[in-house]
Amino acid sequence: MKELMNSIVEKGTILGEGILKVDSFLNHQVDPELMYQIGESFAQKFNDRHVTKVVTIEASGIAPALTTAQALGVPMIYARKTKSITMNSELLTTEVYSFTKQVTSTISISKHFLNEEDNVLLIDDFLANGQAAKGLIELVEQAGANVVGVGILIEKSYQQGRALLNDMGVEVVSLARIASMVEGEVEFLEADL
Ligand code: G4P
Repeated sequence: MKELMNSIVEKGTILGEGILKVDSFLNHQVDPELMYQIGESFAQKFNDRHVTKVVTIEASGIAPALTTAQALGVPMIYARKTKSITMNSELLTTEVYSFTKQVTSTISISKHFLNEEDNVLLIDDFLANGQAAKGLIELVEQAGANVVGVGILIEKSYQQGRALLNDMGVEVVSLARIASMVEGEVEFLEADL
């Protein structure tokens, strides 16, 4: 997606160890117009797949998941990384290990919001090793629901996430696919949209 790749080139900063800083439009300050365009792109792509819920994980997945859900006309649910005091109903839970942050977190969604009738589109900001998306797939499967695909804003294609999800039989649609980040330059593969 041209607009997202332009934002990465113009506003992103490459930190050491293959980390892309995009906090001026995605991870801290958020560009609403870009999020709107992203939502429209994902909705167009998955329009004929009978999506009933869009699911993401807090925090940075929420903005693009919300615009996608609005464009599809369905609710958005975000998995929580900490248990809310109001979450007293039964929970779907799983553990997610972050290689980037080297922490394991327990993520959860209330059983109330997903059931076996649901066709779920997963959305997340980054795909690196795929552990967050794998955790979300596990939550959807615990509910007996179906995963129609995973929509990713920024895929780091030199890491294992896409292969892991494809091996699980899940389609990955990425708006920007980064092949490498060397000497301050981002090299892209052809994106899926
Ligand atoms: P994985 O889910 O694909 O296995 O990725 P990993 O554990 O390595 O990443 C964990 C967190 O680090 C995720 O954010 C992910 O979005 C973020 N991340 C991974 N690579 C990059 C990168 O190059 N740049 C930036 N900015 N973030 C990266 P999170 O913990 O869910 O944080 P947030 O959603 O609350 O912001």
